[in-house]
Amino acid sequence: MLRDSYQRVHDYLRISITDKCNFSCTYCIPIKNCHFLPNEKLMTVDELFQITRTFVQLGVRKIRLTGGEPLIHPDFLSIVEKLHQLNIELALTTNGYYLDKYISELIKLGLTSINISLDTLESAKFLKITGKNAFERIYRNIQLLLDKGLHPKINVVLIKGVNDNEIIQFIEWTKQLPIHVRFIEYMPFEANQWNRNYVVELDEILKVAQQKGFSLIKLKDHINSTSKSFQVEGFKGTFAVISTVSNPFCDTCNRLRLTADGKLRNCLFAQNETDLLTPLRNGLDIVPLIQQNVLMKFKVRGGLPDFKNPELNNHLSKRKMIEIGG
Ligand code: 5AD
Ligand code: SF4
Repeated sequence: MLRDSYQRVHDYLRISITDKCNFSCTYCIPIKNCHFLPNEKLMTVDELFQITRTFVQLGVRKIRLTGGEPLIHPDFLSIVEKLHQLNIELALTTNGYYLDKYISELIKLGLTSINISLDTLESAKFLKITGKNAFERIYRNIQLLLDKGLHPKINVVLIKGVNDNEIIQFIEWTKQLPIHVRFIEYMPFEANQWNRNYVVELDEILKVAQQKGFSLIKLKDHINSTSKSFQVEGFKGTFAVISTVSNPFCDTCNRLRLTADGKLRNCLFAQNETDLLTPLRNGLDIVPLIQQNVLMKFKVRGGLPDFKNPELNNHLSKRKMIEIGG
């Protein structure tokens, strides 16, 4: 088992299978300095499988595929097919654009835990945030998942002055549909123009919901959950808040991250990472490297200072969000 020095067991690996995306969300891809990795620096399908299998041997039980945008990887389905052999829980975070193309295969392979990023319910604003005129397409694909009997999670990064006026509409969306809306507090990453004043906090979201007259039921959260879940009485769906900034949930963290170029990160905010791909290519054993990396994990938020500090600028991580995959 991958236990760190605070006795946290790590059984969940998030793999960014590509650092590229067909969208360019403002909070994720910086306008300047965005260069993508050349193919030879990225894990091949086989290397990804070998590294992942090692993690499974070390006790990983759940894998989430992220990006960039995982569905634009040319070998996306082969990756899912290979990982399916490992007998673990498989999940996906996507912008939803190509879901119609893959959904039948994914259901066949048991990949039904799907998170879709959708920050607005307004078409014009969607174009502004993502750089792609695709709101209707994403909305249709969400409907498609519902028609197939899935209960998708919808990730909404709230940014003050951008989409915080849509909190009620998002919650009302859960009235008739079994979707799970997850409001994510805006987090600082390299060059993403983060500012503490743009963060919409958990308390504020709950206040807006209560002022609307929604009667909120607090739902029980999974022990390793990063979110606090609620349901409006009588509604079919649910909503949650991921409060990384105002209330970190590091105590029960069970997550590790692997970047598309085969680097292990033990925290979203980690300042250091361990290259696994080069040693693997050199025929070395990567097990001790993984174990050492886990032992180096900080207690809270990768050892960063409190986000309450307004001085904190956005040069926190050596990586941009697009390279980490959330
Ligand atoms: N703050 C919070 N969430 C973010 N995501 C991307 N960048 C940020 C950020 N700066 C979210 C995306 C996606 C998930 C993988 O991470 O919206 O849903
Ligand atoms: Fe692409 Fe997701 Fe980043 Fe948007 S948030 S640019 S969809 S990876």
